[in-house]
Amino acid sequence: MTTYQIAIFPGDGIGIEVTEQAVRVLEELEQHAAYSWAWNYLPWGAEHHRQTGQVAPSDFLEVLRPVDAILLGAVGWPETLPDHVTLEPLVRIRQAFDQYACVRPARLFPGVKSVLAGKGPEDIDLVVVRENSEGEYVNNGGRFKQGQPDEVALQTAVHTRRGVERIMRYGFELARRRRHRLTMITKSNAMRYSYVLWDDILDELAPQYADVETDRQHCDAAVMNFVRRPEHFDVVVASNLFGDLLTDLGGIISGGLGLAPSTNTNPERTYPSMFEPVHGSAPDIAGQGIANPIAAILSAALMLDHLGEAADAERIRTAVARTLSDGAQTPDLGGSLTTEQMGTEVIRRLQE
Ligand code: NAD
Ligand code: IPM
Ligand code: MN
Repeated sequence: MTTYQIAIFPGDGIGIEVTEQAVRVLEELEQHAAYSWAWNYLPWGAEHHRQTGQVAPSDFLEVLRPVDAILLGAVGWPETLPDHVTLEPLVRIRQAFDQYACVRPARLFPGVKSVLAGKGPEDIDLVVVRENSEGEYVNNGGRFKQGQPDEVALQTAVHTRRGVERIMRYGFELARRRRHRLTMITKSNAMRYSYVLWDDILDELAPQYADVETDRQHCDAAVMNFVRRPEHFDVVVASNLFGDLLTDLGGIISGGLGLAPSTNTNPERTYPSMFEPVHGSAPDIAGQGIANPIAAILSAALMLDHLGEAADAERIRTAVARTLSDGAQTPDLGGSLTTEQMGTEVIRRLQE
């Protein structure tokens, strides 16, 4: 029997609450599976910083390195610790473990109402493939003359030919398994070095994927089109920062951030991959037991896909689809179920 070693990093706020439900779902599947789970709980985050002076121990990458996958809740507690401090280990994990493919499906489930009037499940089913290892998030810059009137802050994005090409190929391969359309989103009309490299690479690769229809949009037009014509989009490839923005938008048009899952995939499997909701720690609702756990549960399904347990991943998605179409709703969806009750609804449908 395979035992999967999973690092669980619940983090802060609702990260802790929703992760608990994802683990319940995974433990339910384990009852009937040919594998078992070995959890390694990591109490990292803002509270860990209060106790130890560090968000995560200095050797956190070594702790994570041997695991089969990482399941993350959300990190951040801006009231007590600046976000750029709390979030540093998360961004480091993505970059150090070369988790360059951040895959974020945005699909409107039947029974869920979109904020977009007149759009249904047949209109909203896209996947953002976000470059997750370089771009605008590279720790490259500095602040000079800090606090002085003539202070200067520099932060320079890094776009490499290798990095752009591999994320685009990842998007093309995914489009081949879906509706054969890829939209690349940049801002190459204004940013003439970085995103023109993206344009050049799309031109080079598109003929190799002639069965995939491609188009390109600037990010300003793309955010409008996500709202105006979401049915246009199948696979969307974007840089790190644009992918971040587009996936909160993808989340809200497909029923809210409470439903939006994400991977941070190292496709070569040299390092562990990490699975987490798109959303953050939601301090505005944390501690009330009302966060929607579905995004975390669907992220656990993406982890199962990555581990090669596709049948169980699909069982989760089917159970979630039935839960939602039956009208089970946490407050973000307009209902009154608690986080735990929503988890129980999914588990009940897994048992049927
Ligand atoms: P957020 O995603 O935490 O919340 C945005 C809004 O969506 C809030 O109104 C929140 O209540 C709602 N929401 C989010 N998830 C929900 C859920 N599961 N169920 C119901 N409602 C939900 O974004 P924010 O408020 O900008 O950030 C809060 C903190 O989280 C900050 O510290 C931020 O840096 C951090 N953050 C962390 C991650 C991560 O760990 N991957 C991601 C995004 C933000
Ligand atoms: C996300 C988050 C992170 C990001 C933050 C918290 C660093 O917003 O996962 O979407 O910008 O990547
Ligand atoms: Mn984000």
